[in-house]
Amino acid sequence: MQHFLTIAELTSTEIENLLDLALKLKRERAKGGNKPILAGKNLAMIFQKPSLRTRVSFEIAMKHLGGHALYISPDEIGLGKRESVADVARVLSGYADGIMARVFDHEHILALAQYAAVPVINGLSDHNHPCQALGDILTILERRPRLQGLTVSYVGDGNNVATSLIHICTKLGIHFKIATPLDYQLPPLVVVKAREFAAKSGSQIFETTDPFEAVRDTDVIYTDVWTSMGQESEKAKRAAVFPAYQVNTALVRKAKPDVLVMHCLPAHRGEEITDTMADGPNSVLFPQAENRLHAQKAILAELLGEKKKTTKKTKSKK
Ligand code: CP
Ligand code: NVA
Repeated sequence: MQHFLTIAELTSTEIENLLDLALKLKRERAKGGNKPILAGKNLAMIFQKPSLRTRVSFEIAMKHLGGHALYISPDEIGLGKRESVADVARVLSGYADGIMARVFDHEHILALAQYAAVPVINGLSDHNHPCQALGDILTILERRPRLQGLTVSYVGDGNNVATSLIHICTKLGIHFKIATPLDYQLPPLVVVKAREFAAKSGSQIFETTDPFEAVRDTDVIYTDVWTSMGQESEKAKRAAVFPAYQVNTALVRKAKPDVLVMHCLPAHRGEEITDTMADGPNSVLFPQAENRLHAQKAILAELLGEKKKTTKKTKSKK
């Protein structure tokens, strides 16, 4: 792994290794603290959008691992406006050991990775949210140790979070059902890729507009906001279309009794999820948010940690 930009470009083994490492680092932290494997390392964090979880969990993850994170606020560097993305990548590479970025345009993530001399981590773009997906699967894995054959049902907008989720599920053999309104389906190319992954892993994909059909007997119900950051002008239009996709008592009753109710947060309570479901016995919303910390430690350790030496000992020929 050179960067962490999309779930789609990781192999299932790379994902499983990250999950194992996240569990190990989580146990280590619980037993008294992580080893300072990133001592002296600095992570530059570019934010074009607001954040609670991503900002705080990356900053604290770096601290727990002995390193440091630097927050760069939306108005500060004018990514692609005040200065080209390529130049920002080149300049930051001279100061920091890694770059984490939350952007609107996914092309900006790709350009950062292209021009940076250090690893780049995608902390959400309009296209996807791979850090979220890794933390989500960690949360499921802790409660359902056999992932293969589980069903995850996503209800709501076919957005950035849904994109990374369908890709991680289909990489790992988890069946994926999604219910969205017709005009808010996942982008066709995202589904095409997911079908390729599913053909290899044995996952099944099911798309519908009927939320009740999507959640029947499922293991996990997942939702996200109806209006993502950057889509604020569409809020009223979306609010008229999405109410049938609310995760509420009637919907959750159709799933398995021990279904896990998930949401990446921030939640708009009373819109895509009711208080009863967000705070009920099936909800794993807050362990899920915590797991961002542990999942991202694994990503940071993998990308910024010392690489194992692979130099072969050569016998001197005399
Ligand atoms: N889930 C998530 O990424 O939250 P933030 O937007 O608060 O970082
Ligand atoms: N889909 C949401 C996720 C926030 C973490 C957004 O992009 O605003």
